[in-house]
Amino acid sequence: MPEIITVLSGKGGTGKTLMASNLGIRLAADGKKVLIIDGNFQSRGVDMALDLESRVIYDMVDVLRGDCRVRQALTKHHKYSNLSILEPPVFRKGGIRMVEFEVLLERVGEGFDTVIIDTSSASTDISVRMGLLSDKCMLVTTPDPVSVRSGQSLLSELKKEGLPADRCRLLVNCVRLKLADEGYLADVEDIAEAFGIPVCGVIPYDENMHVAFTNGCPVADLEDSEAGAHLSRVFHRFLLTE
Ligand SMILES: Nc1ncnc2c1ncn2[C@@H]1O[C@H](COP(=O)(O)OP(=O)(O)O)[C@@H](O)[C@H]1O
Ligand SMILES: [Mg+2]
Repeated sequence: MPEIITVLSGKGGTGKTLMASNLGIRLAADGKKVLIIDGNFQSRGVDMALDLESRVIYDMVDVLRGDCRVRQALTKHHKYSNLSILEPPVFRKGGIRMVEFEVLLERVGEGFDTVIIDTSSASTDISVRMGLLSDKCMLVTTPDPVSVRSGQSLLSELKKEGLPADRCRLLVNCVRLKLADEGYLADVEDIAEAFGIPVCGVIPYDENMHVAFTNGCPVADLEDSEAGAHLSRVFHRFLLTE
């Protein structure tokens, strides 16, 4: 069975898809066989984050309906052939229920070292169900108070449903360093205390990362870029989660 990593947050726009796609690239660059499953059924984005949108032919619903084989629905990355993605449909084809997603996960995960599930924040119930499937959870928040509060609420649901908190690591993303220096942002220590789980990394808001992400260019394999090297260190710490 592959190791399953879920990337979660209580609020949208915190950087889950950026982290999930870059973590996939990092692991693939290290030689792991990786599958990223796009669990955002409303607005998929992993294909765009990895510049694969024109290569995706079949999706989860095609597999579930038996319209294609599992392998046909896995789209390989152009640079790392050991990295594949599985997408939901762009346009509604009747939706995907969680029970179907769980069956799909068992079928598609075979042969991979790691499966990364990128989630949506639209439904706490679905986020919790996806979180419970995982060996490790990356909980992404920004310093924004609403993001922190909704993240805390999601974590408490996850714990209530039986997810051991030691499987979770907090990633504080989009920290605007100037505002932090001027005292306009919550301290990372205070955010960590509010969540009560270890922090695997603090990522500054970085315009270059935004531009790279929106152009489908993950940076986690670029050891000579500052952002790439920093992400790699954060992912390394995250992967040490027992
Ligand atoms: N550290 C960062 N620096 C700059 N922009 C970021 C950073 N993290 C995320 N973003 C930007 O924030 C937006 C939301 O990111 P995304 O990964 O799509 O969030 P989510 O999947 O949680 O909705 C994107 O435009 C992305 O480029
Ligand atoms: Mg997303």
